[in-house]
Amino acid sequence: MFASWICIFALATLVLAIPTRRELPQVITKCTVPNTAALTFDDGPYIYLKNVSDTLSAAGATGTFFFNGQNYDCIYTRESVDGAAYAYSKGHQIGSHTWSHGHLTTLDKTQLVSEFSRTEDALKKILGVVPAFTRCPYGEYNDLVRQVAYERGQTLVNWDFDSGDSVGKTPEESKNLYDDVANEHPSTLLALNHEVYETTVGIVLPHAIEVLQEAGYRLVSVAECLGIEPYRYQGDASPRDASWTC
Ligand SMILES: *[C@@H]1O[C@H](CO)[C@@H](O)[C@H](O)[C@H]1NC(C)=O
Ligand SMILES: [Zn+2]
Repeated sequence: MFASWICIFALATLVLAIPTRRELPQVITKCTVPNTAALTFDDGPYIYLKNVSDTLSAAGATGTFFFNGQNYDCIYTRESVDGAAYAYSKGHQIGSHTWSHGHLTTLDKTQLVSEFSRTEDALKKILGVVPAFTRCPYGEYNDLVRQVAYERGQTLVNWDFDSGDSVGKTPEESKNLYDDVANEHPSTLLALNHEVYETTVGIVLPHAIEVLQEAGYRLVSVAECLGIEPYRYQGDASPRDASWTC
């Protein structure tokens, strides 16, 4: 009798410790701290990264970069590492955009773990950080993606405003979208941009910063706009070695 109660207790503990999929954390789409706007930049590290970092810093703004391991460039090239380390050193937030920018909803668990872990490992090596935030490529996820993210301590974050730069909007159209949302003035904004387009960097970003700041928003990182820690671990970068390959 006693033994079976222990058994039931053990089973209940086990069941409670593994959240059912229904109980998995939701994918975040909105900032929660009033009057904040988080500008996010996906698909790097790429050649305009330092420019984005400087443009933000010059305006007193903090941005968030979601890096791939291998997309427009390999995260381990000297230029990628330089750019990433530069943006991180200026206080911008670094998150993961997974390794190869695949469609995560088509992958099995082993493949998903690889997509997450290779990028987290790379960020640990090149910057000394393990991010706490992951953005799914295309914003695509399912229950298995959420489960893997949960197991890896990754908060998934999408957006509530798309500048449209990756889906064919012209720079003028993207600027107009920022004008419109600044006029509508939601309490918070979580904006999707891509650091890989020269027009986003040179034309849209300066305008977005200007109209959002004029509208009274504080331009902060995703972590700050949510009041959540940006990193699971922060230490020192490692010296380059033979494992720094894509
Ligand atoms: C970023 O690049 C754009 C376009 O190439 C340029 O006009 C701008 O001056 C650059 N900004 C910084 C801070 O380097
Ligand atoms: Zn992307």
